[in-house]
Amino acid sequence: MIDNKKYVWWKHGVIYHIYPLSFYDSNGDGKGDIQGIIEKLDYLSELGVDAIWLSPIYTSPMIDFGYDVSNYREIDPVFGTIQDFLKLLREAHSRNIRVIMDMIMNHTSHLHPWFLESKSSRYNNPKRNWYIWQSPKNGRKPNRWNSAFGGSAWEYDKPTKQYYLHTFLKEQPDLNWWNTSMRKAFFDDIEFWLKLGVDGFRFDAINMIVKNKKFKNNPLFFEYLFNKKKLATRNQPGSYSIIKLLRKLLDKYENKVGIGEIYIMPPGNSMVSASYLGNGNDSLHLTFDFSLIFRRFNARSYFKCIENWYNQIPTKGWPSIVLSNHDLYRSINRFGTGFHKKEKAKVTAFLLLTLKGTPFIYYGEEIGMKNSKIPKSKIIDPVGKRFWPFYSGRDGARTPMQWNNSQNAGFTEALPWLPVNNDFTKNTLIGLRKKHKPLNCGEWKPLINGKNGVIAYSREFENEKIIVVLNFTSVRKKINLKIDEELKILFSTHRLISETIQLYDINLFPFEATLIEG
Ligand code: GLC
Repeated sequence: MIDNKKYVWWKHGVIYHIYPLSFYDSNGDGKGDIQGIIEKLDYLSELGVDAIWLSPIYTSPMIDFGYDVSNYREIDPVFGTIQDFLKLLREAHSRNIRVIMDMIMNHTSHLHPWFLESKSSRYNNPKRNWYIWQSPKNGRKPNRWNSAFGGSAWEYDKPTKQYYLHTFLKEQPDLNWWNTSMRKAFFDDIEFWLKLGVDGFRFDAINMIVKNKKFKNNPLFFEYLFNKKKLATRNQPGSYSIIKLLRKLLDKYENKVGIGEIYIMPPGNSMVSASYLGNGNDSLHLTFDFSLIFRRFNARSYFKCIENWYNQIPTKGWPSIVLSNHDLYRSINRFGTGFHKKEKAKVTAFLLLTLKGTPFIYYGEEIGMKNSKIPKSKIIDPVGKRFWPFYSGRDGARTPMQWNNSQNAGFTEALPWLPVNNDFTKNTLIGLRKKHKPLNCGEWKPLINGKNGVIAYSREFENEKIIVVLNFTSVRKKINLKIDEELKILFSTHRLISETIQLYDINLFPFEATLIEG
């Protein structure tokens, strides 16, 4: 029996990321909704997920599809009502599935009443400083800070003759986290959901919430890249302090989780991601490290990346593993135009679900959903519209979930909000991870470090052990695990379950992924 105190749901469980607009449409308007998620809870329960994280469902003009919130205490009518949400909480909890919401602290929508008030006048306005306003400098923009979505991060407001800051779209004005009244009001909004019983939050762009107080310019890209000069708009000491306060807020309640989206340019600095775990007890519970996502599919490079991530995690901290999300190409599409995409996807699925750390599964990843090609006329992501044809945006990773092989893949009976993709396969790794303690709680011990195209490691918990062997190459590989025993296959892309295997000399098949009971 697993000691329930040791089995912490957000450490040892699997978290499933739902993009609500595309999950399941229950009312035939072409858009996914809360009732749709409720109807698919049995599916999620059978799949074995321990929690769902919902991309934002608050009231929003949807210019950034919910990441522009105009009321943090209401549900957008597209998704349903607060009653629907409470029903989702009850129904999910009754199946032992926790519910994690997205929380966007860097900015609100330009239509949020706070911003409307902040913008209404420059003087004698208690909410003016809830956002970041600056006067022109020598008739120009206050500095050269850029928006993550292109162009300057400053937008001029003619009536009050000042600029406001927006790290993302101009319809997403940045909040001023130096302002304590705003902070209190925002924390109250967060607590509103904790009181209703949500199990935690994924904190959007959390490493960007505080900016340099003196509005120092950012280094030029090459200075940043090669001379390691620090950005004035990310990873400021102030962000770390606010995260500690957030943790205190979460800790007022039992068993809550705080997960940080730590986006770093260029992506993949595990040290920075891990720094937001603090001492392992005083900051975020989990943070995303996106470095694996940006690696070429290569055993040595993956191995180094995994080892590096683990090395950064504080002793009391815990890693997370993520390969896809709503902002990036689906993992299967990152394997280039070459052959063997499906085989590579299987190897990475084994990694995602057998490494040490909480796996995040992006909806559809469990059936091998691919990115869809969205024709230019159908692009709705503002980032895709802006950068097409160099970058066509994020729509392709957000297409409707494929529930079956009927028209529109059973997502809706109406015209879906984005075109549906068409690809279906199953995998059973989630079930195995849930069932076998070494896989969900165990320590990670490297056995083969990727040098010859193979990664092998064991996961160990008390007296149990599972060995994972992954061939990243398209040729057969001989390996020697130096274990003079015949052991049983637990699951494999190429071998029969329960067959035994001699670990002294294994002749691996191309792209073989095998779990062995040690
Ligand atoms: C995060 C979200 C992304 C959103 C952006 C602005 O990176 O994941 O979807 O557009 O923040 O809120």
